[in-house]
Amino acid sequence: MRPLIALALIPAAFAATPVTYTQHIAPLLFKNCASCHRPGEAAPFSLLTFDDAKKRAKLLAAVTQSGYMPPWKAEPTSYAFQDERRLNAAEKALLQEWVKQGTPQGDPAKLPPAPRFTAGWQLGKPDLIVEMPAAFDVPADGPDLYRNLVIPLNLPEQKYIRAIELRPTARKTVHHVLYFASPSKPGELIATSSPMGRPGSTALGGWALGAMPHLLPEGLALPLPAHTDLVFQYHFHPSGKAEKEKSVVGLYLADKAPERNLFSVQVPNSFGVFSHLDIPAGSPNFRIEDNYTLPVDVEAVSIGAHAHYLGKEMKMTATLPTGEVKTLLWIKDWNFAWQDRYFFQERVPLPKGTRLDAYVSWDNSEANPNNPTRPPVRIQWGEESSDEMGSVGLQVIPAQQTDYAALKKSFDGYVRGRAVPAIMKDPTILERIRKHLPEGANR
Ligand code: HEC
Repeated sequence: MRPLIALALIPAAFAATPVTYTQHIAPLLFKNCASCHRPGEAAPFSLLTFDDAKKRAKLLAAVTQSGYMPPWKAEPTSYAFQDERRLNAAEKALLQEWVKQGTPQGDPAKLPPAPRFTAGWQLGKPDLIVEMPAAFDVPADGPDLYRNLVIPLNLPEQKYIRAIELRPTARKTVHHVLYFASPSKPGELIATSSPMGRPGSTALGGWALGAMPHLLPEGLALPLPAHTDLVFQYHFHPSGKAEKEKSVVGLYLADKAPERNLFSVQVPNSFGVFSHLDIPAGSPNFRIEDNYTLPVDVEAVSIGAHAHYLGKEMKMTATLPTGEVKTLLWIKDWNFAWQDRYFFQERVPLPKGTRLDAYVSWDNSEANPNNPTRPPVRIQWGEESSDEMGSVGLQVIPAQQTDYAALKKSFDGYVRGRAVPAIMKDPTILERIRKHLPEGANR
């Protein structure tokens, strides 16, 4: 409904002024679409020329009106996000009007310069570029695969990472990738097929389809210990065509140790494994929720959500000690393909005693176009994309670095408090988690 209202508000201005490609549409597409819609990137076609845009004008108007493009799932909430990919009502109306007026080109002299992109790297030239030593063959079909592919690094001294940019070669099949630093084991190029990765690994973030690589804010970095390798935990979804994956990876380093440590506050914790995630076949709105109260003052840096195909809606609110309720993230229309992490424009101060409430809901009905199983079946917690899991993850730093240990201890207590009763009620949870423990950890 929103675009109709937008049009109703603006027609007088447009009736008089012709909307042209060079003056109105090119700047809009260059700014909001070209980062993906250009050669070599994930989108299926380029949007860099008049012909590119004219050929698909109706489709461009339709997908922007519906909010499908540009992909950006987070609703506007209490705090603004960086690099928000969202068209405003006037921009959507411009595309509608351009189609209505017959997609005129306009004065070529008004065409702004085409956007320039550094060849390949989104964040500029990395400090260190490494390549996977051997290609991994992704089969044409079959079930989803998890593989931990190794790039041997074995640096003599500790470094600090501000960002990792991964450029996969089998782009169409790569669903998401988690990054780890793991003690060097010369000769081992494929570590394990376990979704939990190689034992002793430290998490370094990750990448999912549609997500842009991101530099951690100044003063923050993740340690890359000496004598470790990079392990990339891939989730491949075969595309119908055999492909070879041999990533090139750029590392962006900080020149000194971080001043404060990041901590991930996930609610419900552990991707919902202790939240009795058992979705009946056909259920249109199955929901889990939980809350966690912050034991120390923190600042929130970023937020993201996770679920698989059936995910529907997720939201996290912060109830401040004053009683004021702020919304940190709200995704009303989850789509598995777009798993962005949203960075707040300004760090969000959340005082000690703030209660974080989060819920995740799923639509396991036949009416959900993303439901891969027809007729729907009962779905439980699990790692495969045909299973489900769900949580909202808030990345914070303690306001005082000395509070880090207290935060960690309190959060571990929260996880234990949910795990013990859940396992007593349903001991099969242990089996399901054990299946995913690192090789050798449980013998
Ligand atoms: C973050 C990357 C990204 C941005 C930014 C982006 N797109 Fe896309 N676009 C994609 C990808 C990837 C696809 C392929 C379909 C999919 O995966 O959903 C796509 C598909 C499309 C399609 C085809 C839809 C269909 O049903 O066939 C259109 C049209 C489109 N985009 C238009 C736009 C427009 C217009 C903009 C800017 C206002 C834009 N896109 C911004 C990545 C992007």
